[in-house]
Amino acid sequence: MTMQRIAVMTSGGDAPGMNAAIRAVVRTATAQNVEVYGIRQAYSGLLSGDLERMTSRDVSGIIQRGGTVLQTARNLEFKTPQGQKRGLRRLNEHGIEGMVVIGGDGSLRGALSLHKMGFPVIGVPGSIDNDIWGTNTSIGVDTALNTILDAVDKLRDTASSHERCFLLEVMGRNCGYLATVGGILGGAEFVMVPEYPTTLEEIGKVLEHAYMVGKSHAMGIIAEGATPTTNEIADYLKSHEIGFEVRVTVLGHVVRGGSPSAFDRLLATRLGVAATQRLLAGESGVMVGLHGRDIGVVSLEDATSKQRAVAEEYVHIASLLS
Ligand code: F6P
Repeated sequence: MTMQRIAVMTSGGDAPGMNAAIRAVVRTATAQNVEVYGIRQAYSGLLSGDLERMTSRDVSGIIQRGGTVLQTARNLEFKTPQGQKRGLRRLNEHGIEGMVVIGGDGSLRGALSLHKMGFPVIGVPGSIDNDIWGTNTSIGVDTALNTILDAVDKLRDTASSHERCFLLEVMGRNCGYLATVGGILGGAEFVMVPEYPTTLEEIGKVLEHAYMVGKSHAMGIIAEGATPTTNEIADYLKSHEIGFEVRVTVLGHVVRGGSPSAFDRLLATRLGVAATQRLLAGESGVMVGLHGRDIGVVSLEDATSKQRAVAEEYVHIASLLS
């Protein structure tokens, strides 16, 4: 028998484009006369029964908005078997027969636990970090990258006016994708990422060389998960007379906000449609993702047990062109 009622949630860190994905889920299901319930604040809202019917009209005017209209949360209780059973009980109480979970690896692990208890669920990768295995990229990555480039371009103006070196720290948890690609596209002198650590001495040499060949400024992009840390790099450079004065900017959560780019709106829309179609066709336990130019699937088991790291090619290009 076909489903009558499904749910959708956004979970983990918000990412620009999540609203476009919610909209796609609601409208795809509604077009097939299936009711959609939006669960507020992810697994926290599931456990407390905070869900509400969403119609096509409820998702009007949200495709261009950053954040998530359903809000999100990181929930510890749902990581326990007892929390997962309570979650399933809530879904059954509300007559929900399947769910689309939009989020990062922790969120997808929650989805996998429901699938293992026999509840139909499809994952959609949403995280600015680009650390989700099984998809070329995730909802929010492109917008975050554009925000980083905007910051790099602005910092360059002031850096060159003062002959300074700026260290820009960007989010990404344990993945160096945003820092590396931000470094390539922003023309940074060096990038520092968790996957391919560099020594303080090497960074010092690169910047000293940049000063001596006459560059008016320099830029280093550091992933938040890297070691040495941004502060350690700044302290080292300040005490080693590299030529440039050194300043630090931590971009923080700014990278998570803003209107989604055209790429993220399209990606989120395609993934939301595909996830809903697959759920309604009876599939479960998979994550939809971008494979080449097409939307494909991998198992949630694979998506959550492997981690995507920044490609060595990008790290090589960043240092080659600096
Ligand atoms: O996963 C997205 C992300 O923004 C990471 O880049 C960062 O490490 C983390 O979330 C920050 O989490 P919070 O918003 O809970 O501080």
